[in-house]
This record gives sequence, structure tokens and C-alpha cells, in this order.
Amino acid sequence: MSKYTVLFVDDEPNILKALERLLRNEGVRTLCASRPSEALELLKTENIQVVVSDMRMPEQNGAELLGLIRETYPDIIRIMLTGHSDIQIAMEAINHGEIYRLINKPWDDEDLKSVIRSAIHEYTREEKIQELHRVTYQQNENLVELNQTLEEQVRQRTKQLAEKNVELRNGYIETIRALAEAVDAKDAYTRGHSERVGIYASKIAQEMRFPKEFIERVYIAGVLHDIGKIGVPDAIIAKPGKLTKEEFARMAEHPEIGARILEPVSFLADVVPCVRHHHEWYDGSDKGYPLQLQGESIPLPSRILLVADTVEAMTSDRPYRKALPIDCVVSELNKYSGQQFDPDCVRGFMRLLDAQGEDFFVKGNNFDIYEFLEGW
Ligand SMILES: [Fe+2]
Ligand SMILES: [Fe+2]
Repeated sequence: MSKYTVLFVDDEPNILKALERLLRNEGVRTLCASRPSEALELLKTENIQVVVSDMRMPEQNGAELLGLIRETYPDIIRIMLTGHSDIQIAMEAINHGEIYRLINKPWDDEDLKSVIRSAIHEYTREEKIQELHRVTYQQNENLVELNQTLEEQVRQRTKQLAEKNVELRNGYIETIRALAEAVDAKDAYTRGHSERVGIYASKIAQEMRFPKEFIERVYIAGVLHDIGKIGVPDAIIAKPGKLTKEEFARMAEHPEIGARILEPVSFLADVVPCVRHHHEWYDGSDKGYPLQLQGESIPLPSRILLVADTVEAMTSDRPYRKALPIDCVVSELNKYSGQQFDPDCVRGFMRLLDAQGEDFFVKGNNFDIYEFLEGW
């Protein structure tokens, strides 16, 4: 208990002596002041937990002194000693919350000791509560800080992942384009054909209100649809005139060859059937290849690709003819809608042509499928 100090304030030296003596074996340190001003000086330098003050003193009465102490040192427990005649003022002081207890003169020693003990107890209780508040506040602060750090880390990681994702995606698309260009390069006339088929097909798929992932697949399948031409002799691919029966049979192998080339690539698994069946006829006739699939059994991206492929081929120059006018394309598609072509896909293209006219046919090389699909 010696870490606690009690300050007695009384203008009578005998009373101070008696009080000091009273607490000698209580394990607390005692300080004495014979005037309020002296008490205030001591409070500036000493660490005091309890003040016991007389009521009647020359300079300032005890209620005023304890009121001042409350203002400057609100944690100090304040006790007043008073005679019977001061009881009215003292009660007011209590009612204003300025003091903890009132002790009547002459006091009972045991009573006074017990009041001081409980005052110290009260002080430590307050101290503990405040310490608890302080610790809780600090922990809260730490949690807020930790949270902010974590949020910042998550933001950073998310950003890094997004950047990595864009990098991978671009690398992926570039690889696919490079493959397609390798094919188109076998024939000067078909340069850019695969890319344009990918673009036309994704536009048609979007016009048909398909979801983003589907359109992305249609685009990739479009870019890769003729990849199998790598396995067809250059002489057949670049032949200006009509193909012989045998030559056509070799040429007709390209969807199957393409599918086989792509099969080992796991992330292209859903593109493989689209490539394999891009020359099937909607009516299932034997003009389609390789399996003469019919209607809905032909993968939907393949049916869209066939329209896009035809549109691209007809509107490009060929060694044996110039690009055909759009009217020709329209009548060809209408003529074979339901036979070679899925009527839904033809209608999708027609709607786009109505809305966009010549703008449908992209020139240049700056199409970005992900930009195209942004917000779709
Ligand atoms: Fe093809
Ligand atoms: Fe093609």
C-alpha cells in the first residue's frame, strides 16, 4: 500500500500530528499541509491519491480547496473533516460531488482508517477502469490499423493478379493470332481471313444475345477455324482455279486436322468441336464435312462461323475473282439459309448488316475481343 499517498490539510498542528500517527501502521505514505496554498504546492510535485481536508481554515475553506483539486486533479479522492457547525456547507459540497466522504470531528479512529482504506480502494478501482479503457482503446486502434494494412495488401494483390491476368490473356490471344497468321500466310489472298472470321463471328454471336464467355469462345474458334490448312499442301491452298476431286478431298481434311492440332491444348478443349464442324451443312447433306452432322447437333459456334466464313470469303478478293458486292452475299445467304446455313445465324447477320451497313466489315488490325466485350 506504500505506493499510495494521503495528504492531510488542517490549520491545527495537533490534528495533523494525530492524523499522521493514526496512519503510521497502515502502509500508506502521509503528507501534511497547514494551509490550502501549501496543499496546492504539494500537489504539483507529489503523486497523491487521497486528500483529507479540514473545513474551516483561514485562507480558504475546505470545500473551496477540494473544489479546486477536483478541477485540476479529478482522479484524487477527496475527504472532508468537519465540525458540527459546518455541516450545512459540507453537505452542499457533498451534493455538488466535490467530496467522497464527510468525517465528523472528533472522529472515531477506526472509522477514519476504514474510510481512508476504502478511498484508496476506490482510487485503485478507478485506476483499473481507466487502464482497461486505455487498453481497450489501444487494442481497437491496433485492430483498425491491422484492418487497413490487410485491406491495402488485398488491394495490392488483387491489382497484381488482375495485371497478371491481362498479361496471360494477351499472351494467349497473341499466340492464337500467330498460329492463324501462319496459316493465312500460305496464301497471299487469305491474309487476315482468320482474324476477320473471328471478328464477324463474335459480332453475330453478340447480336444473337449470347453471353460473354460464349462470344469469346466463338472469337477464338473463328481465329483458329482454318488452322488445319497447315496440313494441306500449299499448291492446293493457293491454287487459283477449281480444285480437282482429289484436291478437294485433301482440302476437306482441314477441319479434322485443325481439331487434332488443337486437341492437346487443354485450355482450347471447348474450341476443338467448333473447329472440327465448321464446314457441316445445316440440313445434314453430304456437302457438309467431316461428319455430315445436322441442325442442332452441329455446335452452335460452328454454325455461326460458317456464316462469318462465307461472308468474309465472298467480300475478299480471290485469285480468280474480285470481292463480291454485298447484295451477292445477302442473296447467297438467303438462298442457302436452312440448307447450308442455320437460319437464326443468317438472320443475326442480316440484322447487323441492316444496322451497320459497310461498317460491319472491319478493316485494319486493331480489334480487341476483350475491349469489344467490355460491359457486355
Ligand atoms: Fe475452313
Ligand atoms: Fe475459312
